[in-house]
Order: sequence, then structure tokens, then C-alpha cells
Amino acid sequence: MSSSAQTTIVRGRFLDIQSLVKQAQQIPDQVRYLEDGVLISENGKIKWFGTWQDAQPHLPENIEIQHYPEQLIVPGFIDTHIHYPQTEMVGAYGEQLLSWLNTYTFPTELQFKDPAYAQNIAHFFVQELLKNGTTTALVFCTVHPESVDALFEAAERIQMRLIAGKVLMDRHAPDGLCDTPQSAYDDSKNLIEKWHGKGRALYAITPRFAPTSTPEQLEKAGQLKQEYPDVYVHTHLSENKDEIAWVKSLYPEQKSYLDVYHHYGLTGQRSVFAHCVHLEQDEWQCMHQTDSAIAFCPTSNLFLGSGLFPLKKTWEQGVKVGLGTDIGGGTSFNLLQTVSEAYKVQQLQGDKLSAYEALYHATIGGAKALDLQDQLGNFNVGKEADFVVLNLKATALQSLRQSRAKSLDDALFALFTMGDDRNIEATYIYGQCAYQKTE
Ligand code: GUN
Ligand code: ZN
Repeated sequence: MSSSAQTTIVRGRFLDIQSLVKQAQQIPDQVRYLEDGVLISENGKIKWFGTWQDAQPHLPENIEIQHYPEQLIVPGFIDTHIHYPQTEMVGAYGEQLLSWLNTYTFPTELQFKDPAYAQNIAHFFVQELLKNGTTTALVFCTVHPESVDALFEAAERIQMRLIAGKVLMDRHAPDGLCDTPQSAYDDSKNLIEKWHGKGRALYAITPRFAPTSTPEQLEKAGQLKQEYPDVYVHTHLSENKDEIAWVKSLYPEQKSYLDVYHHYGLTGQRSVFAHCVHLEQDEWQCMHQTDSAIAFCPTSNLFLGSGLFPLKKTWEQGVKVGLGTDIGGGTSFNLLQTVSEAYKVQQLQGDKLSAYEALYHATIGGAKALDLQDQLGNFNVGKEADFVVLNLKATALQSLRQSRAKSLDDALFALFTMGDDRNIEATYIYGQCAYQKTE
């Protein structure tokens, strides 16, 4: 190991997942649990991972070992859909999607024209991700290019892997939030050139949703995707019934809502569609055939009264899915709380969501949805060293419940059900401790 390398050694109880776990009570093959494990990272990547016993010959000298004997260390949580400009408007009362956008969201987003305002909220947002154990997110900015610079600069300071982009919106919104097909193209292209692949930053072409883009603008978005095939596409799809009816009236030529995006070349392996609560069968097929991904946002779908997402359909139809907080339509930055609501959404449909499956969705499943499975999502050697140290006993009630846990999956399930930001002890980004809980 070269002396200039930045090396971190962490010892503790490690848990990670290799591939999709369906309903499971025992520890299945796809789950790796090391009661006393060691992770060695060098220059941000996992250099060695295994048991404490096997680690001895690999331990570099003169480097302090961070030991977390009581905690549980899991891969960093991955949030596949969130809006950073909506951080300040979480919990806005009484509206469903379309009136919620006009009443609360658009006035809030207008403020991000001011770069200083955007920088302030971007910094707060990144800190909030860390406090909640989220190490990667796919993020909506606003229509203003300055809002994108502010976010990527905040992430760059801590070497966080973020995917983000400027919103494209040229109709059905206030003037101050509208661009044009050409300015949307030019601004996005400049931002792609500036940010995509710089450090850990990745860019997403981000049409807000079909109703706020003209066909000309979606055409420009498709052109951009053709010119830069490895950038992402990030938008909303089939969240609310009034929204779907509106899309059908605005795009009568297309056979479905998803077909609007598909027609303009916006589906594919790096396309992520938030919500997808009310997809029709041919839309499920198109999602599968194009290898597009869904961001399932349970707290948002409940809060905005949008509906119950049929998670089981994603297995049946072979569609990639990650979890999204969807702040500020969603009500928590925390993926433990998001899992808890995801479980209840399945219960209301007569289905279950096991603890291991939930951990899969919050980590390697999210990485797959973002086409980052070779970089993120578990402790395989060579991946980026993003992980979270969880305290399972953050409250008296949690301590009592954990002391009665019958198995690892029972303990994990209780953590998901009762957990929140109080359970996040430390968050490591690219091998460095970026957040340590203080009190
Ligand atoms: N659809 C279009 N814009 C938005 C938004 O900001 N939040 C949510 N939840 N859905 C949307
Ligand atoms: Zn959203």
C-alpha cells in the first residue's frame, strides 16, 4: 500500500445484499452478514472486505481502526428521487399533485434564481442527506442553471456521488420558471459539459413531467440524450389520476403517458421515472423492454393522496425499482422511514415487504435502478466506500424491542419500522467519515 494513499479501516458488524431477495425469514444466500468484519478502503474504494480473523495480514500498520462493536454497518442508502429546492416546503397542507404544484411548489422554486439562496439550501440539503445515511441521490434542481451549480458544488466538497439536472419546463408554470426548447437544450448541454463525470458528479436531463413541456421541448430533450447517451433522464410518470388525464389531452397522438417519453427517445437503461403508481399493462411492458427504472416514493404517494404503488409488479414484470423520498411531496429524508411506509403500502394491497428485500431496495437495488451497480450498493471489493453506521437502539423503546429480537431479520425489520435519523450514527462517503452524530 503506497504511503500517500488515503486509507480507512472500519471494524464492526457488516450486512449487505448481493441480489434481489424476495420474502425471506432465514439469512438467504444473497445476504452477507459478518458478525465481526473489517472494511479497508483506499482512496475512496473498497480495497479489502472480510472477517476480522482473515483481515490480520491485510491490516496496514499505523492506521487507527474505527471500531463500532455495537452498531450495524450497511451500504450507504440510495435515494432515487428527491427535489432539493423543496427541502423547505415539506409538509404543505391539503392539496393533491396539480394544485400542490401551483400553490406551494412553484412559488418555492422561484427563489432559486438567486445563486446565494440556492447555495444555502444546497448546503443544508447535502447535510440532511448525510444525517439520514443517504450517500447517493438522484436529484431535481429547478429550471435555473445556477441551482444545478450550487448543488454539484456542495456535493463536490464532500466527494458525494450525486446525479442531478436542470428542470426543463416551457409551459403551464409561472414565467419565472419557464425556459424555451432552445434555452433548455443550451443550458442543459453546458451543464453536461461542465459536470457530467466531473469527480463523482453525473448529469440527468430533467423534464419536470409531460404537462409542463411542449412537444418541441421533449424533442430537444431527446436530441440531447442522443448526443450524450450516458447521461441520465429523470422525470415523473403516472403519479396522479388528474395528471394522467391531462397528459392524455395534451398528447392525444400517443397511446399512453409513458409512450410520450418513449416517442421522444427518453426511455432506456439510464432513465428513471418517479412514482408510476397507475401504469397500464403496455407501460409496464415498455418499462421492461427499455430497461427503464422506477423510483417508488411511498411517503409522497400517501401524503399527496396519489395511490398505492404495486411493488410486486416490478418483480413480475422484470422492472428495476429504487426507493425515493420525493422531498417535498414526500415527508422524510430518511430511508428507514421510507421503507416503513413502503411496507404499509404493500400491506394495504395484501402483500409483504421483508427486511432483506427492503435493504436490497435501499442499497444495491437503488444502485441498479441508477445503473451504478458496478460502483455502489454493497461491500464488494473495488466498489466505492460509501456506508452507514446504524445504532439499532437509539431510544428506550427501540432498546427494549431490539433486546427481544429473535433473529437478524427481526432486528432489521424493527429498525426499519421504528427508525429515523436518530439511528444514523455515522455516514462515510468515499472512505471518509462525512457525518458523525454528536449527542
Ligand atoms: N410532478 C411534477 N412535478 C412534481 C413535483 O415537484 N413533485 C411531485 N411529487 N410530482 C411532480
Ligand atoms: Zn418528484
